Amino acid sequence: MSKSNKKDNKTERLDKIIASQGLVSRSEVKQLVKNREVVVNGVIVTDPGLKVSYNDSIAVNGVNLSQSRYTYIMLNKPRGVVSASEDKRDKTVVDILPDELKRKNLFPAGRLDKDTTGFCLITDDGEFAHDILSPNHHVTKTYIAEVSVDIDFEKAKKAFIEGVVLADGTVLLSALLEKMSGTDRHVFKVVIKEGKYHQVKRMFASLGTTVISLKRIAIGGLELDETLSEGDARLLTAVEIESIVKNDGKI
Ligand code: URA
Repeated sequence: MSKSNKKDNKTERLDKIIASQGLVSRSEVKQLVKNREVVVNGVIVTDPGLKVSYNDSIAVNGVNLSQSRYTYIMLNKPRGVVSASEDKRDKTVVDILPDELKRKNLFPAGRLDKDTTGFCLITDDGEFAHDILSPNHHVTKTYIAEVSVDIDFEKAKKAFIEGVVLADGTVLLSALLEKMSGTDRHVFKVVIKEGKYHQVKRMFASLGTTVISLKRIAIGGLELDETLSEGDARLLTAVEIESIVKNDGKI
């Protein structure tokens, strides 16, 4: 876990901190305070604008919040949306977040192509993003790819493990390839531990086939929440954030 994930002494309005957990809106927090249901450091609060720090203990209806200075969001990215914070032409993954999750400085940790769907991690924690993207940290990314023309699976699997050499001569780190059963189509699971431009598409291109659909289903040890429809997003829990950096020795 990144050092920047540590709680700190910066203060924020209580209603803002509680609403930032994504479960209730700021106006609902005001009502909870009115109902004497919010407690800070053991004392019932009467002012929703009270300044609190990330070190204060906050309880709502007797449940402790483990608030973090940073925000970590799982979005099930639909096709046609670009993974950037801003774009002149297209809608971005940050634009399509629901209002209650939107806040300053959010950006996608890593790029998915416009036509790729699935798990997009959006955060405002630059150090964490760097940690999970750096090839030195070996945080895996898992994709399901459907390709146009079948491949020699055993040969491809060996090439993935040994490190695919792309058309431009780039030698990739070891990756895993698995054939998905239960379909007549050519569908594969791919696990990589770096994030080069169009990497998965270029890996299959080196085998003489074309990716026709690509979905990211996991980052490190955290799988895409399949109850999220395409375009839906939710905050990650502290346990889920920790699980991202656990790869369970996949590669
Ligand atoms: N590899 C690709 O080719 N595209 C993506 O969006 C992600 C990985």
